[in-house]
Amino acid sequence: MQETHVALTAKMTGRPVISATGLFTPPESITNEELVASFNAFVDRHNAAHPDAEPLAYSSVEFIEKASGIKARHVMSKAPILDPEIMCPRLPERANDEISVMAEIGVAAAKQALERAGRRPEDVDAVLCAASNMQRAYPAMAIEIQQALGIEGFGFDMNVACSSATFGIQTAADYVRAGNARSVLVVSPEITSGHLNWRDRDSHFIFGDVATAVLVEDAAIAPAQHWEILGTKLKTVFSNNIRNNFGFLNRAHPESAGSADKLFVQEGRKVFKEVVPMVAQMIIDEAGRLGIDPASLRRLWLHQANAGMNRLIAQRVLGHEASEDESPTVLDTYGNTSSAGSIIAFHQHNEELAAGDTGLICSFGAGYSAGTVFVRKVG
Ligand code: COA
Repeated sequence: MQETHVALTAKMTGRPVISATGLFTPPESITNEELVASFNAFVDRHNAAHPDAEPLAYSSVEFIEKASGIKARHVMSKAPILDPEIMCPRLPERANDEISVMAEIGVAAAKQALERAGRRPEDVDAVLCAASNMQRAYPAMAIEIQQALGIEGFGFDMNVACSSATFGIQTAADYVRAGNARSVLVVSPEITSGHLNWRDRDSHFIFGDVATAVLVEDAAIAPAQHWEILGTKLKTVFSNNIRNNFGFLNRAHPESAGSADKLFVQEGRKVFKEVVPMVAQMIIDEAGRLGIDPASLRRLWLHQANAGMNRLIAQRVLGHEASEDESPTVLDTYGNTSSAGSIIAFHQHNEELAAGDTGLICSFGAGYSAGTVFVRKVG
């Protein structure tokens, strides 16, 4: 082992930082116009085939943009999603000796994070695969990603829906704080097109596919420019307003296996009303605990589910209507990418900030679950 192997020789501080992030964006994208044309073609076919049933209503580009702020979303499998006869992704099954698609996009994001940090895979101690949906029960996606990158140590999967990445960041930060790891990759491959019901007018426009990676490390080995983690806070409160009942016990009831509740379902209005005050208060309380004036936050990288929710949360936290500079959105081109959303916003909108600037990465979603990661730029 060479002495230049920085991760093995530096004296650890127990202070966690974000050393770098990575992003994989699927090349294919669906515009609202394409999505609505496909949905409305499905509606026409359905209504013609079921003349005695309550007719299904059309979707509309105007509604989608106004209600959510979403204009397009990236997907891993565009043509079948838009085919009114199929309306779901068709990703071919792979043999056991091929890398799985979730691991593949996770690895792409992770490689970028490692490259940006100047970190060699062999210097990473752990991989957490934190996402809303896992491709299979086991072996863990995290272990497959670990294997593909050549990382020693350990990995495991964790699922806290849209808050998976911030829960993963706190878990990684706790390993660093406890001295159990120096360098941890939190990878969030989100193929949300697989859990979305593309035939459901209320939600067919919401989600998109992506993968992100966050490298959480001890400050002692971090690159000169990094984001110090000032504090992390997690919260969960049970709610039935966002559900997905898909699971391995469904095979006990094959007659209900294809029912709509085996995909994403939500009471969007209730989610909006209940989550906005919960998250705004959580941010304000946690800022208080850390001795940070919420109004002084330079930037909020909020979960990307709905532009209106972000507007309200940012306003309550900052005390004024947030500009795009203060609370950037990536919803317009990515849609809701579940746990990856706030990380995409952070990845794309942090470099120009100055040393000493303080910001907040914040997620919220099903569970309910919410996570805050207050960060300060160094270097
Ligand atoms: N096209 C056109 N009209 C539509 C439509 C569509 N695709 N979907 C719904 N509508 C109609 C409804 O029928 C309703 O019509 P009505 O007023 O005549 O009854 C109207 O638009 C409002 O519907 P509603 O479902 O109340 O919309 P909304 O303003 O609440 O917006 C969401 C829907 C989902 C965008 C919004 O509730 C939301 O973002 N909630 C939070 C979601 C969230 O963060 N979830 C977490 C997921 S991780």
